[in-house]
Amino acid sequence: MQRADIVEIIGSRIQLKKAGREYKACCPFHGERTPSFTVSPAKGFYHCFGCGVHGTVLDFLMQYDRLDFVAAVEELALRLGLEVPREAGAQRPAGLDPLYALLDRAAGHFEKALRRHPQAIDYLRSRGLDGDIARSFRIGYAAAGWDGLLRELGEDDKTRQQLLAAGLVIGREDGSGHYDRFRDRIMFPIRDRRGRVLGFGGRVLGGGEPKYLNSPETAVFHKGQELYGLYEACQAERRLASLLVVEGYMDTVMLARHGIRNVVATLGTATTGEHLRRLFRIVPEIIFCFDGDRAGRAAAWRALHAALPEIRDGRQARFLFLPEGEDPDSLVRREGAAGFAERMAGATSLSDYLLAELQQQAGTDSLDGRARLAELARPLLEMLPAGVYRELLTDQLAQRVGLPGQRLSAALGEEPARPARKTRQAASARRSGRVSLVGQAIALVLNYPAMAAGLEYPPALATARVKGAALLAELLQLVRDHPQLSAGALLERFRERPEWQHLQALLAVTVPISEDGARAELGDSLLRILAQDREERLALLVARAGTGQLSAEEKAEFRELQRANPHDIR
Ligand code: GTP
Ligand code: MN
Repeated sequence: MQRADIVEIIGSRIQLKKAGREYKACCPFHGERTPSFTVSPAKGFYHCFGCGVHGTVLDFLMQYDRLDFVAAVEELALRLGLEVPREAGAQRPAGLDPLYALLDRAAGHFEKALRRHPQAIDYLRSRGLDGDIARSFRIGYAAAGWDGLLRELGEDDKTRQQLLAAGLVIGREDGSGHYDRFRDRIMFPIRDRRGRVLGFGGRVLGGGEPKYLNSPETAVFHKGQELYGLYEACQAERRLASLLVVEGYMDTVMLARHGIRNVVATLGTATTGEHLRRLFRIVPEIIFCFDGDRAGRAAAWRALHAALPEIRDGRQARFLFLPEGEDPDSLVRREGAAGFAERMAGATSLSDYLLAELQQQAGTDSLDGRARLAELARPLLEMLPAGVYRELLTDQLAQRVGLPGQRLSAALGEEPARPARKTRQAASARRSGRVSLVGQAIALVLNYPAMAAGLEYPPALATARVKGAALLAELLQLVRDHPQLSAGALLERFRERPEWQHLQALLAVTVPISEDGARAELGDSLLRILAQDREERLALLVARAGTGQLSAEEKAEFRELQRANPHDIR
């Protein structure tokens, strides 16, 4: 095994920084903020000084990609363009081999048929394809008629059953035999990363319905996982930097025809997380390409949702929107490879697209709009794995809503970037007078609105004389009435009020990191606030009693206050 490969393979999954003769990264196997994960190309070994994981590139693939040993070997072999040694592959169920072999024979049959049918060749020519590209994609033709393939390959009953299992023939309803699934269609074989044919897409020549027919799901073909053109892209360029995801077979083939080889197509389905995980194992950057029309925009928004959980430091997704009415095929023919490549280079970053789209959904710069923007962003940001990228995006969002990033993080219910101090320390900060008791309680409500919504708070709070108690009571009532409100949305309701500045500042006060801790502290704070109120009130009544001015009512209150046990209020 070449030594440099460990850096290349680990580096394609996590971001490595060169440090002398070694490479460093934050360990992908335990949470840390300073890098203690080290890769040594000289030793062909990685080691984390934080958690102790270590091993070879194979161990890494097994741990990080969660592959078993054989799969890890295969992954490595693919990366190096090697055949998988027979022994290593031997543990794999051999049951599928005949299916692969049959699919391969079928692809060969369609290729041969293409050469014998001028009308199919003419169709491809009219679309602008040449023989080289047709060969490298193994494009073929399924002749008209019902049994061309069946007669060629279905020599015995066993093979006919296999043709059925491969999705190439269909059983007659009356049980009297089979007929070809693909008839009079241009055939696009769909291959896996090793080049094995898994299934086909078949296009009618010219008009006719349905335009495309795909192989059904089989033991080896899963539409939601495979990507057309992936094998061909990997073959064309050993070191792919990015992959463009388009919608059509023809788009993939035509871009390749113009020299843009880093292209794959989904098989008429939306982009799935499985697609993206596959692609991100090969390249650090994925560019989605969509029509500029409404359907294209909707598809892009779905793709964004699929992409978010897969994005992390060192991985990028961008979005390329084509002018309405164009697809990559028509555009590359009109503008040429250079023009298309320029569009690819100018594709919108995921964060720009996300923020622009949210801003449009939230509408305007109004206060309401900004609150809505924060609300809309929350579930999306939550889909991102925690890390530098999530923080960056939160910061960018913060700029747009006009809140400092840290506060927005808090508003969005993020854990603060730095570890929060323990409750006891926070309490001592409070005692030292930096934040009042009420201020601390408000901070807890703002940071944990959902928790506060579930808290039974004493009605006496609203009329307590302690400074800020009424505001606290108001906030508690607000979250009770609207338990869905995030801190951001909660704050927005006060933007025009004099308390706004103060509330903003309180959002940044350090609070416990766990909801349970926060709940305990808030409950405790409420008791103390009421106790403080009682003391103040008592002191006042005592002073008035001293001057003999107590009314009957005040006397009753006095007796009440003296009897009250603060621990009853919950
Ligand atoms: P051309 O029309 O030949 O340029 O092909 P295209 O690949 O550009 O097709 P289009 O943009 O219309 O559709 C994009 C993709 O959606 C196709 O490549 C197919 O995967 C899928 N698709 C389109 N039409 C059909 C259909 O009728 N049935 C199925 N199953 N899939 C389709
Ligand atoms: Mn097209």
